Amino acid sequence: MQLPAPRGPLTDRLFAELSRPPHAFGPPPADAYGVEEDSQLALFVCYELHYQGFDGVDDRWEWNPAVLALRERLERWFERWLARRVPRPPAPPPQEVPRALAALVAADDGPSLSAYLRGRADARRFREFVIHRSIYQLKEADPHTWGIPRLLGRPKAALVEIQSDEYGGGRPERMHAELFRATMRGLGLDDSYGAYLGSAPGVTLAISNVMSLFGLHRRRRGALLGHLAAFEMTSSLPNRRYSQGLRRLGGDAGARRYYDEHVQADAVHEQIAAHDLCGAFAAEHPGLTGDILYGAACALTLDRLFAEHLLGRWREGRTSLWEADAEVTTR
Ligand SMILES: [Fe+2]
Ligand SMILES: [Fe+2]
Repeated sequence: MQLPAPRGPLTDRLFAELSRPPHAFGPPPADAYGVEEDSQLALFVCYELHYQGFDGVDDRWEWNPAVLALRERLERWFERWLARRVPRPPAPPPQEVPRALAALVAADDGPSLSAYLRGRADARRFREFVIHRSIYQLKEADPHTWGIPRLLGRPKAALVEIQSDEYGGGRPERMHAELFRATMRGLGLDDSYGAYLGSAPGVTLAISNVMSLFGLHRRRRGALLGHLAAFEMTSSLPNRRYSQGLRRLGGDAGARRYYDEHVQADAVHEQIAAHDLCGAFAAEHPGLTGDILYGAACALTLDRLFAEHLLGRWREGRTSLWEADAEVTTR
């Protein structure tokens, strides 16, 4: 994957440093943080050093103290960004966690992107949607895998069970990321990892960033599990609609398989995630039930913001992808 074009002073500076051999550098001044596109992309690139890295960027940057110091400032900004958008749900008693997760999901009243894609989107818009999703779905499940060594016993077994399905259960051609690559090829898109990073707006990057934030910090493990549960609990029905939309647009079975697979798989995963994962974890860590719910609320809110962004742009007859001249500054 190539480093994308910078979007402001932070990414300008960071990408210039990363293009050189690892060295010390001072973090950018405090007033440089907060331009949304610039900050989300900078954070995404810092995190990506822990996944596949970038062509021409030395692997030793991953644990370089200067990058970690910058990442820490970006994370503080991002935590405030989340706190302003995601009200913290009350902490339920441990045995109520699966029910509280279900209630949170049921109360979600964001606009339905999947209904639009099923019935109305043209091929160009469906392709845009797939480009956005490629940022996460080409590394599907990886951020939640950080949670495995942070768990013990029943919740650990539950997370491994879900992740094993996501990774194809030993069959690479059944990995969800690989199924998604077939969807991309079916739509005439480049299926290589990170090919569209430069087209992803901040709201799309935030969806990945929140998972990495929760996954890479042990103290956030409750939120990580709640996030996964909300993901799985809101997946089955939309994926059925995505498949129907793609069929309407002429997508063949291979291109639709990613979506069809999720209709079945996530109907099972949502039960495992709510009960065996979050329920069992809550019983062991009663003080973290609020974190579980907060992680779930973050997933739901970001998905709503994502849907609002796409539908809003399309209503205006504009692309929903990142365009350098469409900078929006929100702090
Ligand atoms: Fe999946
Ligand atoms: Fe799943």
